[in-house]
Amino acid sequence: MAKARKKRLKVKWKNVIIFLIALSLIIFGLIKGTTTIFKIITTPKSAQERKEEKKVESKEKPYVPKVKTSKKDKSYNKGDNSFKKLSYYHEEYLDRYIKYKKENPSFSDSKIVTYVNIGLDYPYYENVNEAKYLNKDYILVNKYNYLKSDYVPKDLESISLQFSKAGMKLVKKAKESFEKMAKDAKISGYSIIAMSTYRSYNYQVNLYKKYVKNDGVKRADTYSGRAGYSEHQTGLAVDVCTDKYNYTDFEKSKEFEWMQKNAYKYGFILRFPKGKEKETGYEYESWHYRYVGEKLAEKLYKDNITLEEYYATNIIK
Ligand code: DAL
Ligand code: ZN
Repeated sequence: MAKARKKRLKVKWKNVIIFLIALSLIIFGLIKGTTTIFKIITTPKSAQERKEEKKVESKEKPYVPKVKTSKKDKSYNKGDNSFKKLSYYHEEYLDRYIKYKKENPSFSDSKIVTYVNIGLDYPYYENVNEAKYLNKDYILVNKYNYLKSDYVPKDLESISLQFSKAGMKLVKKAKESFEKMAKDAKISGYSIIAMSTYRSYNYQVNLYKKYVKNDGVKRADTYSGRAGYSEHQTGLAVDVCTDKYNYTDFEKSKEFEWMQKNAYKYGFILRFPKGKEKETGYEYESWHYRYVGEKLAEKLYKDNITLEEYYATNIIK
């Protein structure tokens, strides 16, 4: 019995020794590992080491972000831009061309330059100027070019009652051409009657107010000029009707067809055509004609362009 006890004790001592050896090995390993890590962190790199690292870094390709480019993309930088090729390019508008192109990437260069020259990169009635060429046939009055409240055209004359409602006045040259046109039309069996012609600034104030009251500003702006911005104040614009058709129905009359073929021969243009609402700023008006002189009327008619587009693409002399 005592022999067996002695044997168990012997075995226990052996285990203790093995355990102690293993423990000291673990502790030694831990101390060694920790000191090595600590050394790496705290020891500054030598200049040579840093050089070597740089060499390796510079051998790696730098990161270049991928940018989608299209063959169609052109340069619109200040120094080198494709707008310059156009004869109606204005250097002073270059920033506006670039900005407008960014906003309308699908527009051609000529459309960008034409529209910016018109002023269309700004909302209507913003960035406005006083109209140039006062008392000239080719004066441009629209949502970017205004007449002062005291502007009254020279040479206003009353139209013969044979061809107009009472009290209708136009500038002498326009009046004479209108009477000639209405007379020639009458000979061929057409009735063309002037029903709204020169309108003073104050008249337009009240007219526009009435329209706003009825339809609100947004809608009124599509068919009526604000005071100072209506070309009726130039004495060169005329709204027409017939003996059978009111002006709003003028498009349905045979006179409208006649005017489409002949008005330009007398110096008149259809001022707000279909499909040019953006350029003119107004809805299509079959009844509103504008005297611009025979030569210019023929050009606009044959080129199928508005007065706005003509101004935007030509140097006016
Ligand atoms: N109805 C035209 C746009 C005007 O008021 O001048
Ligand atoms: Zn009109």
